[in-house]
Amino acid sequence: MSESDLKCIGILTSGGDAPGMNAAIRAVTRTAIYNGFEVKGILRGYKGLITGEIIPFKTQNVSNIIQQGGTILKTARCPEFMTPEGRRLAYENMVKEGINALVVIGGDGSLTGARIFAAEYNLPIIGLPGTIDNDLYGTDTTIGYDTALNTIMEAVDKIRDTASSHERLFFIEVMGREAGFLALNGALATGAEAAIIPEIATEVDQLADLIQNGFRKSKNSSIVLVAESELTGGAMGLAERVKNEYPQYDVRVTILGHIQRGGSPSASDRILASRMGEAAINALLEGQRNVMIGIDDEELVYVPFNKAIKNQKPINRDLLNTVKILSI
Ligand code: F6P
Repeated sequence: MSESDLKCIGILTSGGDAPGMNAAIRAVTRTAIYNGFEVKGILRGYKGLITGEIIPFKTQNVSNIIQQGGTILKTARCPEFMTPEGRRLAYENMVKEGINALVVIGGDGSLTGARIFAAEYNLPIIGLPGTIDNDLYGTDTTIGYDTALNTIMEAVDKIRDTASSHERLFFIEVMGREAGFLALNGALATGAEAAIIPEIATEVDQLADLIQNGFRKSKNSSIVLVAESELTGGAMGLAERVKNEYPQYDVRVTILGHIQRGGSPSASDRILASRMGEAAINALLEGQRNVMIGIDDEELVYVPFNKAIKNQKPINRDLLNTVKILSI
C-alpha cells in the first residue's frame, strides 16, 4: 500500500496503562485529522480489534484528556491476539471498518503483537512506547515512566518520615517487570540507601553486599528500593532473608503496586506523548512502517520493532555506585 492509499488510521492502547497514554491518543488523533485522515478508536486494545469494538474518533473525542491518567480507550492484555485465529478476526474487522494503518500504544508485549500482526498481513503499524517500566530498547524514556517515578518519589518521601521515627529498615518494592529503571532512579531521587535491581541479580548477592557495606552506618533508619523481580525475590523475599539472617533490624515492607500506574501525567510525559503522537502520523506519511517512535537525546527516532523488543535496554550501573556514595 502506498501512503496515498492511507485513509483511515486505527488507534489502540494495550497492556498495562501508563500516564500520558491519553495525551498520546490526543496527539495521534489530532495530527491524523489535521492531515486529512479518518481516525477510529479501538476499545480495549487488541481485544476490541477482535470483537469489533471500534468507534469513529473526531477531535472532540480527545478534548480535555491531556491531563487525565489511564486511557480513555481502555486497555487489556489479550492472549487471543497471540493466536493466528485471533489475529485473523482482528484483520477482518480492520478491513470491515476500512482501517488501513494502526497506531499501537503500549509496552513490550503490545509491540510484539504489533510486529507479528504487521508481518502476517503486510500492514503499516507504528508503535508508541507506553509503559511505566521504561524497558523498551531504542528510546531514552517511555510514556508514563516520568510520572511513575514522581509517584514513587512522593510515596517514599512519606515512608521516610515513619521509617525515621521508628528507626526501621524499609524495603519498598516498585514495579518494572524485571527492569530496574524505576528502582534505581527512584533510589537516586529519594536519597535511598540502595536499589536492588534484576539486571545484576545473577552477578552479585545485592543484599549481602548491602549488609557487608554496613548500610545503616551512622543512620538509624534505612530505605531500600527493590524492583519487582523473580530473580531477586522482590521486597518480601529480601525482608524474609534479613529477618532470618540479621534479626537486629526492625524490618518493614511496602509494595507500592498499582498506585504507580495512575495519576495525572507529569509535564515531561505530556510533552513526550504529544511529540511522539505527532511523530507517529508523520512516520506513516513518510512511508515508515513497523517502527516504534523513540526519543534519543531529545531527537525523535524510528526504532524497528525487532530492535525495540528483542534487545535488552542497558541500565546505567554506575548509578548504583552513586546511590551508595550519596548515602554515606
Ligand atoms: O508493564 C507495566 C506493569 O505495571 C509492570 O510494571 C507490572 O509488572 C505489570 O504491569 C503489572 O501488570 P497487571 O496490571 O496486569 O497486574
